[in-house]
Amino acid sequence: MCGIVGYIGDRNAQEILTGGLRRLEYRGYDSAGIVTTNDAGKATRLRAKGKVAELDEKVLAHKKTDHVGIGHTRWATHGVPSERNAHPHRVGAIYLVHNGIIENYRDIKELLTTKGYAFNSDTDTEVLTALVDLFYKTQSTKNLLAAVSEALQMAVGAYGIAVLAADSPEELVVARKGSPLVIGVSEGEVYVASDPSALVGHTDQVIYLKDGEIATCRREGVELYDIATNVVEKVVEKLELDLQAIQKKGFDHFLLKEIYEQPDTLRSTLSGRVQLEGMYAKLGGLNMSDKELSEVEHVLVVGCGTAYYAGQLASYYIEQCSDKVTVQVAIASELRYRSFNLPKNTVALVVSQSGETADTHACLRELQKRGIRCLGIVNAVGSTIAREVDGGVYVHVGAEISVASTKAFTSQVAAMLLFGLVVAQAKGAGKQEIGAYLQELDALPDEITRIIEEHAEEMKQLAKTYASYEHALFMGRDTMFPVALEGALKLKEISYIQAEGYAAGELKHGPIALVDDRFFEVALVADNLLYEKSMSNLIEINARGGHTIVLTDSDKPIDAEAVVRISTKLKLLSPLLFNVLLQLFAYHMAVERGNDVDQPRNLAKSVTVE
Ligand code: M6R
Repeated sequence: MCGIVGYIGDRNAQEILTGGLRRLEYRGYDSAGIVTTNDAGKATRLRAKGKVAELDEKVLAHKKTDHVGIGHTRWATHGVPSERNAHPHRVGAIYLVHNGIIENYRDIKELLTTKGYAFNSDTDTEVLTALVDLFYKTQSTKNLLAAVSEALQMAVGAYGIAVLAADSPEELVVARKGSPLVIGVSEGEVYVASDPSALVGHTDQVIYLKDGEIATCRREGVELYDIATNVVEKVVEKLELDLQAIQKKGFDHFLLKEIYEQPDTLRSTLSGRVQLEGMYAKLGGLNMSDKELSEVEHVLVVGCGTAYYAGQLASYYIEQCSDKVTVQVAIASELRYRSFNLPKNTVALVVSQSGETADTHACLRELQKRGIRCLGIVNAVGSTIAREVDGGVYVHVGAEISVASTKAFTSQVAAMLLFGLVVAQAKGAGKQEIGAYLQELDALPDEITRIIEEHAEEMKQLAKTYASYEHALFMGRDTMFPVALEGALKLKEISYIQAEGYAAGELKHGPIALVDDRFFEVALVADNLLYEKSMSNLIEINARGGHTIVLTDSDKPIDAEAVVRISTKLKLLSPLLFNVLLQLFAYHMAVERGNDVDQPRNLAKSVTVE
């Protein structure tokens, strides 16, 4: 989604800002812009529709030696992607970049219009800029902090903003409510970003802004305030992210790198948490006593997109671990607006790679309001959700740059399974009952490595055969069902093929009507009790001339257009292997179709508006 950068110091601000925006490209955007000012208060604003490369060309034609500025990548919400709607917006001396949505912008616009303001864009951001200008220019002292504070006290909605007054080039003012901002501090300079990856290589000393905080950034340092400009104590933390983590390391795309990284990232998730000697699972950050764990009766899993599907798969495992626990999985954007009841002793698992997804975050707040203990299953350290939960499990997969989530899924499932095991242990489950899961978790990274080695080329060739289709059906039963959903999501978001995931048993209840020459069907067939049932679904599709691809760990004869056979010792966690193959399939389909694999059209990495 939108990205913010800011800089004040002695280096070239145009270079720092465009470099920062390139780091944020992975988040998805449709236009970009920067403004810098010189010491005499002359501002240079450059904006472009499209990629940062278009902006680079403008910078080349208008090079400046300015040392202060702000920049933005915009993902359109109000108004089409265009230079006119791109940030920074300017009204009078005020330049402003904004992530989020100002919900009452129409009311504010009306008010400003009566005061003589006219608007050049269709955005809520320009309205906020004008409001800051109104307060700024009516003050005798031209105090930017006070002007921003007054404007934000009128604004309803979510925002991360960075503001610059051209006639006061010695400071930037930044603020957040519901949209992340991090400030990087270094000797004589200050960096601002909506995502820590833009700070990597500049400084590892960071201040995460909390909701409702405003900061002034000057060369001499940063001051924090609440919305009413009362001073707030600042905490400087170490940023745990390095350059290596945000580079492609020889892969053609971040997505492919992240698929291949999974054995290692999964090891990081499991490290210290799977104890084979003694046969127990251990999670350090739950902030729950054994007694509290033993009292858990219901688990609510909340997330969006891939995180939601990870929750679905994990729900099977958590219920298998203990017959004394029920599990419910909810799409965050649905849960937040419906009336719902939860049984006593519920614990919520709030699942998010970025830790910034607006709907998931809203659920967290709602659940906490109801007194439900919320645990985060989060990747991004220091993110909003990670900071607000009552405890949780970091999945530790490192930066996930590709918009399509891959390595996070695998580790989210593993982390939730570990939670299920920890609860089962506390309820008295024997070593033998949980031992099978621990052994499979322990073996999983190597199995993923082997499966990738053995089948990567096969998935590539399969993609060549099916890349020209426009429709696909994915189906599976039991734990393969969530994998079918996730496989379909992965395919649709990067290949733009219309793909649906179904519980195979639902086929006859509707989707089988779709089977014709324009479709191909991916059947995930596990060698288990449901094997025969899955086979009859396949026969039904074949009988209607379907183009079936079967992924299976069975060695029995199968009649299908293509069969991918994996051999694995895993029985419980084999769905995660199937999922890795579907990730590879989606990747190669997208490459075959010439798509922008890492930044698919219309998508954003972290969805910070609902
Ligand atoms: O950062 P989160 O895990 O909260 O993101 C949730 C979804 O937006 C995300 O999984 C999305 O569906 C991905 N593009 C899937 O690949």
